Amino acid sequence: MTLTLTTAGESHGPALVAIVGGLPAGLVLDRAAIDADLARRQKGYGRSPRQQLERDEVEVLAGLRHGRTLGTPLALVVRNRDHRNWAWGMSPWPPEGEPEGKGTKPVTLPRPGHADLAGTLKFGLADARDSLERASARQTTVAVAAGAVAKALLAQLGISVEGRVVSEQLEQRIDEARADRDTVGGVVEVIARNVPPGLGSYAAKEERLDARLAAALMGIQAVKGVEIGAGFELAERRGSEAHDEILADSQGALYRETNFAGGIEGGVSNGEDMVVRAAMKPLPTLMRPLASVDLDTGEVGEALVERSDVAAVEALAVVAEAAVGFEVARAAREKFGGDALADFVAAHGAYVERIPWRTR
Ligand SMILES: Cc1cc2nc3c(=O)[nH]c(=O)nc-3n(C[C@H](O)[C@H](O)[C@H](O)COP(=O)(O)O)c2cc1C
Repeated sequence: MTLTLTTAGESHGPALVAIVGGLPAGLVLDRAAIDADLARRQKGYGRSPRQQLERDEVEVLAGLRHGRTLGTPLALVVRNRDHRNWAWGMSPWPPEGEPEGKGTKPVTLPRPGHADLAGTLKFGLADARDSLERASARQTTVAVAAGAVAKALLAQLGISVEGRVVSEQLEQRIDEARADRDTVGGVVEVIARNVPPGLGSYAAKEERLDARLAAALMGIQAVKGVEIGAGFELAERRGSEAHDEILADSQGALYRETNFAGGIEGGVSNGEDMVVRAAMKPLPTLMRPLASVDLDTGEVGEALVERSDVAAVEALAVVAEAAVGFEVARAAREKFGGDALADFVAAHGAYVERIPWRTR
């Protein structure tokens, strides 16, 4: 038993779609909680006016009845309200009538740092819009909705997942960058609490929880670095200062005073808080564009300028929380299985009962 996530959708197309497979039957979902995460993703200092336009809301097309999962694929949809301005330009079928609205002219000046050039070459495109629409991080909307579902499942096991920005003086850096018509990145951290020891496994990259979390975070647009626990700093330390001594309380339950490992040893959760960080590069769409080459004429010019965020670090904290939540939920489904939620919860309960683990 595992969780799966498939998404589809273009940034200015009609909608974004996610299908979540492998949920147990009987999980109660709260529409307001999913929409609250979608709203969190849209907020944050430095976002573009598009976020006021979009007010994302989840729709469920399948897998849910009267608010409870059926144990069948869950189909989620978030409509793009902005699509009405792109109805001709992003029409799935050949558009009727005269070109109107946005996206009617081909994009031929690819933005450095975006998928524009690589995607255009890869798919043999004449219009970089055919590449950038899917490469856009608008797709993270449905990933956040799926993450909210995963977090609801984890809550059944008492596991919580929380993302936050760790970069300091972010607002000041954003103000300065905006004044210069530039962009900034930053660092976010996600902590998963009350994860039982034993999720993940030792050797393969598909099994190791650290590898899976790194892949989940690297799977988010603009993430260029991932750290687990003390991460890169560990390389500078001595062993005696880098590992977390194993202690036992008066009841014999095992615990640590430190958590340099970030809750994972040997690719397996060790029962401590799981701590991961992701570094985001500065966003590639600049209001003062970088040099590019017109793919139509071969002439040097300036890259595409399109409405864009100055920073999306706060949004990344929410997206990263969803990605980590989904991956931890996936590992929990693998370990505890069960077609009915009650079986999943019972398997976890029996396991936690058996091991000498002290929850915090
Ligand atoms: C939540 C979020 C919002 C983003 N918003 C923008 C944006 O407004 N403008 C932009 O140029 N890039 C934005 N990005 C980053 C691009 O999507 C990303 O840099 C691009 O798709 C190229 O992929 P890569 O950076 O992983 O190589 C955003 C990323 C995230 C995670």
